[in-house]
Amino acid sequence: MATTEVSTSAILSGIAFHRMVGERGILSAEQVAATLQPDPYGVEVVDLLEVENTHQVGGGSVVPIDDLRAIRKVGLEANVPLYLDGARIFNASAASGTPVAEYAGEVDALMFCLSKGLGAPIGSVLCGSAAFVEDARRTKILIGGAWRQAGIMAAAGLIALEEGPKRLPEDHANARRLADGLAEGAPGSLDPTQVETNMVFADVAAIGLEPFDVLERLRAAGLLANVVAGKVRFLTHRDVDAGDVERAIPVWRRVIDEARHERRGR
Ligand SMILES: Cc1ncc(COP(=O)(O)O)c(C=O)c1O
Repeated sequence: MATTEVSTSAILSGIAFHRMVGERGILSAEQVAATLQPDPYGVEVVDLLEVENTHQVGGGSVVPIDDLRAIRKVGLEANVPLYLDGARIFNASAASGTPVAEYAGEVDALMFCLSKGLGAPIGSVLCGSAAFVEDARRTKILIGGAWRQAGIMAAAGLIALEEGPKRLPEDHANARRLADGLAEGAPGSLDPTQVETNMVFADVAAIGLEPFDVLERLRAAGLLANVVAGKVRFLTHRDVDAGDVERAIPVWRRVIDEARHERRGR
């Protein structure tokens, strides 16, 4: 979040992030402990730990519950609360078999999206103690988030909560199939065994192509993706079925072949 959303955290909340980079987005307890080491000068203070699960830029990777527990322990020892950015926590749960409640039990507060994999058109839910939620509601209004007509969206959110989670394994299977197909069409751009949830990242720069050029060619061919952290990112969700995946693979292959051909011709 430090580098997205036009840095609102810094501007509206006066928060400075200290980023920790983990292997595929997964932080280790040791790494967190090192970050929480008290600063002898008392100027570098950490007030809150945040973990993202699944980790988007890490490739939709799942933080295992044991890793979260270990981080929680380090946080408790340092008296620093833990917040879970669980925008895609239901994907983490579907992939790992760990109930969402178990992840939630390890943190002080979390958010999850009703949109994304769960399929609502809009909406996220912030969870925590009653006092925390009361405070958050006040802050939400303070920064312009009062919304008196949200019931219609909440209704869609309820359906997403009831129907969304059980459908996620299908998205994950589709993503794995897509990853296999993309890797066959562009060897060296991705490792399908790393696809754990509904995201597939292809590193086209690793095979000498320009991500935004590939994106534009895909779009022109009717295949929509985006570029995240310099890689072409594909998502599977409730509007993408197995047939769509099978149609996408040859489009990708054609686009990659064309882009390579043109690059050689230059
Ligand atoms: C990792 C992560 N956290 C939080 C959010 C915030 O979601 P929203 O603004 O829909 O509540 C997003 C949205 O893309 C996200 O990807």
